[in-house]
Amino acid sequence: MKLHVNGSEHEIDAPPDMPLLWALRDLMGLTGTKFGCGIAQCGACTVHIDGAPLRACVTPVAAVEGKSITTIEGLSANGEHPVQRAWAELDVVQCGYCQSGQIMSAAALLAAIPTPSDTDIDQALAGNLCRCGTYQRIRAAVHRAAEIGKA
Ligand code: FES
Ligand code: FES
Repeated sequence: MKLHVNGSEHEIDAPPDMPLLWALRDLMGLTGTKFGCGIAQCGACTVHIDGAPLRACVTPVAAVEGKSITTIEGLSANGEHPVQRAWAELDVVQCGYCQSGQIMSAAALLAAIPTPSDTDIDQALAGNLCRCGTYQRIRAAVHRAAEIGKA
């Protein structure tokens, strides 16, 4: 099976029902996408499929064959995506475990709504849980990323 990940084609030997998260982490070595719950409840495994956020832990690889998959490693070449710059500027991260999922959800939100409201942010990131409670800084950083994106 061939998967198109971060601009490259990856040939993998996997059963069609293997969760995309396993394929990314175990077969491709893309460990930036995290395993939290495995049941689409925490958002740690969020990646983009054709630009839309999706939970890789409950997505079989067969469902994304031929689609464009982006992980945190492919969001930008050197961490210069506005969301990544804003996250660094506002020092959002604590333990970091949830953060690649948060960033992927935030990037998808800003691609759809370049100047999101607090409500837009809360709704878009409602499925991304943070046990460290970084929610206030995440919201501020999304607003900052929107500014950076417009500059
Ligand atoms: S690991 Fe996929 S949503 Fe929690
Ligand atoms: S920063 Fe620790 S879980 Fe979110």
